Amino acid sequence: MLVQIPNLLSTEEVREARAALEAADWVDGRTTAGHQAARVKANLQLPLDHPLARTLGDRIVDRLSRTPLFIAAALPLRILPPRFNRYEGGGTYGDHVDNAIFPIPGTPVRVRTDISTTLFLSDPDEYDGGDLVIEDMFGTHRVKLPAGDAVVYPGSSLHRVEPVTRGVRFASFFWTQSLVRSNEQRRILFDLDCAIQQLTADHPGHETLDGFTAVYHNLLRQWSET
Ligand code: NI
Repeated sequence: MLVQIPNLLSTEEVREARAALEAADWVDGRTTAGHQAARVKANLQLPLDHPLARTLGDRIVDRLSRTPLFIAAALPLRILPPRFNRYEGGGTYGDHVDNAIFPIPGTPVRVRTDISTTLFLSDPDEYDGGDLVIEDMFGTHRVKLPAGDAVVYPGSSLHRVEPVTRGVRFASFFWTQSLVRSNEQRRILFDLDCAIQQLTADHPGHETLDGFTAVYHNLLRQWSET
């Protein structure tokens, strides 16, 4: 399941973030890739302990926690601090599957990467190439969103970033451990949640709403782990 989250950051917030990112010192992205991924990775990354990564990352996580669409789609338990990357001059990240587990730096906590999220920080007309291409059980999806928009997709999917042949592509990406590990179960909950929201909007106070809402919570109780 791919879910697009429009306007996670406002135009003004993107502008601010971009100015800071453009002025920052970047390092070779291979320093943070696993052994297998390092062979196909050619981009730049903000060091994980860079103060800007913390400031911007905290803002993004704060925004996510107040974004109903993200909550409904991801059912987040833990979110890894967001990372930032930069592709230019043919920079690319070939087909790979992300590592399954990451530690939260400076803590004993580990996060299982059930869900990947990419937040676009460059507009599509600022660069050529750079599509995020995601393969899942329903086929191949090409994603290139306006700056400030994000895409949420299963961490288990094979994906790549195609070479950026003009301009610069800035993005943030991060992983979420979900309350519900199974993509299929999470999808069912998301569909049910959307249907309940739609019914609430179309028929406020409809008598079947309580029943559907109870089913939602009872399924979540069956399938969640904390
Ligand atoms: Ni990846």
